[in-house]
Amino acid sequence: MTRFILNDVLIETPAHEGTVLLDVIRYHQHLPGTKVGCREGDCGACTVLVGEMEEGRLVYRSMTSCLLALANIRGKHVVTVEGLNMGHLSPVQQALVDENGTQCGFCTPGFVVSLSGCCLSREMVTPERAIRAVDGNICRCTGYKSIERAATSIAQQLATKNTGDPVTWSVEHGFLPAYFKTIPDRLKAIRKQPGLEHDGSVGTLLGGGTDLYVQKHDSMHHSAIRPLGRSNELKGIRIASEQCVIGGGCVANDLLASEELHARLPQLEEYLLLISSTPIRNMGTVAGNLVNASPIGDLTVLFLALDSTIRLAKAPDRPEHGRNLKLRDLYKGYKLLDKAPDEIVTTISFNLPDKQTRIHFEKVSKRTHLDIASVNSAIRLEISRDATGSDMIREAHVSAGGVAPVPKYLTNTSAFLVGRSVDLETVRAAYQVMAEEVTPISDARGTAEYKRLLLRQLFFAHFMHLFPERFTLKQLVA
Ligand SMILES: Cc1cc2nc3c(=O)[nH]c(=O)nc-3n(C[C@H](O)[C@H](O)[C@H](O)COP(=O)(O)OP(=O)(O)OC[C@H]3O[C@@H](n4cnc5c(N)ncnc54)[C@H](O)[C@@H]3O)c2cc1C
Ligand code: FES
Ligand code: FES
Repeated sequence: MTRFILNDVLIETPAHEGTVLLDVIRYHQHLPGTKVGCREGDCGACTVLVGEMEEGRLVYRSMTSCLLALANIRGKHVVTVEGLNMGHLSPVQQALVDENGTQCGFCTPGFVVSLSGCCLSREMVTPERAIRAVDGNICRCTGYKSIERAATSIAQQLATKNTGDPVTWSVEHGFLPAYFKTIPDRLKAIRKQPGLEHDGSVGTLLGGGTDLYVQKHDSMHHSAIRPLGRSNELKGIRIASEQCVIGGGCVANDLLASEELHARLPQLEEYLLLISSTPIRNMGTVAGNLVNASPIGDLTVLFLALDSTIRLAKAPDRPEHGRNLKLRDLYKGYKLLDKAPDEIVTTISFNLPDKQTRIHFEKVSKRTHLDIASVNSAIRLEISRDATGSDMIREAHVSAGGVAPVPKYLTNTSAFLVGRSVDLETVRAAYQVMAEEVTPISDARGTAEYKRLLLRQLFFAHFMHLFPERFTLKQLVA
């Protein structure tokens, strides 16, 4: 039995916990405002808000209900466009009307839900953030400018929002219906009832489902699953003794929200915003990205270059019975892992960069946002100054995606760079080593030759970005 609150109504459903929320909303609960578009997390027509109690506070995130298993919304509050309706248009709906942000209307519920998430967020909403909130919503009619104007207007209207208690503020200022104020107590009551926890049965390990529900959509609805979303042991980002330890169940937006991580890796935000969209970053876990073993997984390529170690355990609450493995040793062949099916990635850890460390990530895709990479690459260099005052590479880790059957840690290239000075000769010679180390194939994202060329450009881009005073593209490609 799965118990959750849908808008203002408590739902108790015996449906298989692998059923996607979208089907429950539309076909069991007969709420047709949430639309079915792609069913692959791409269009945002099915976006809902999911609220849960975290450290005594109600936190809402936008998610695509077409990829969201019932198992992942147990004990939570789900808000569809119907749940935002009041006796009048909400300021969010009114802004879309005023700015002509809707034409055929198919995408509009998704935009209304995503923008209403701005009312509930615990951060100040700038026009930039309001526009970012709809980065997972596609509109075929408007050309987006009218929607951007509506988002800007909403951000202006939310300028005085109380970020300490956005729910009460939004209800009192007519942005949300009054029942929202009752949700925290009702969620606490649900959590006290028995049967909320998963029975611990064995099955496919389920993180956010953003890979599984795209790849195995039909079988997920009836096969055995083991949802990991409620394991507190898999959550949290801890920084201690110059090490960063990230729970395997953290999602990309947890990394974005971590002030501690931001202080140590300020460039991370730029990289993470190149990955998927806000709702998918709210759902897809770090461990899911690593274990999915996609040759172009963005987080995987980044964590490979950070020289990360993963912890594998069969029970997340008993990680002491697990083992450590270098991430680079996880990949044995196409989708072939040094991992038993029931081993769970509990944490990912890496040494934090110091002042001598330089890190960079590059991704080429057909669109800047909401697109997977054709080729991606990351680099971590530890630099030290030698007796003559030149920069020497003390340690190097280079990774690349889209150029081999697995996300590739470039062992030979990394080893070649160590002990060499940072100059043109080193970079050009290292690229020759790299070219021998990769085996791209031709597919829908480009020919093998094109991918080789992309990798070369990304490798050069790392050095141009990290040592702008030393390298120009003209010099590197001459
Ligand atoms: C629209 C869209 C856009 C996307 N864009 C990008 C992108 O730009 N870049 C990118 O890299 N990816 C992208 N993805 C892919 C996906 O979002 C990520 O790979 C995500 O990190 C997967 O995590 P998940 O928790 O959803 O995995 P799931 O689908 O839950 O699981 C994936 C695999 O990991 C296993 N697994 C999950 N958690 C664990 C665990 N803790 N321990 C062991 N095994 C586990 C599962 O059994 C399964 O085999 C996109 C996906 C969608 C739908
Ligand atoms: S239906 Fe397109 S994102 Fe869900
Ligand atoms: S208004 Fe038609 S798809 Fe957006």
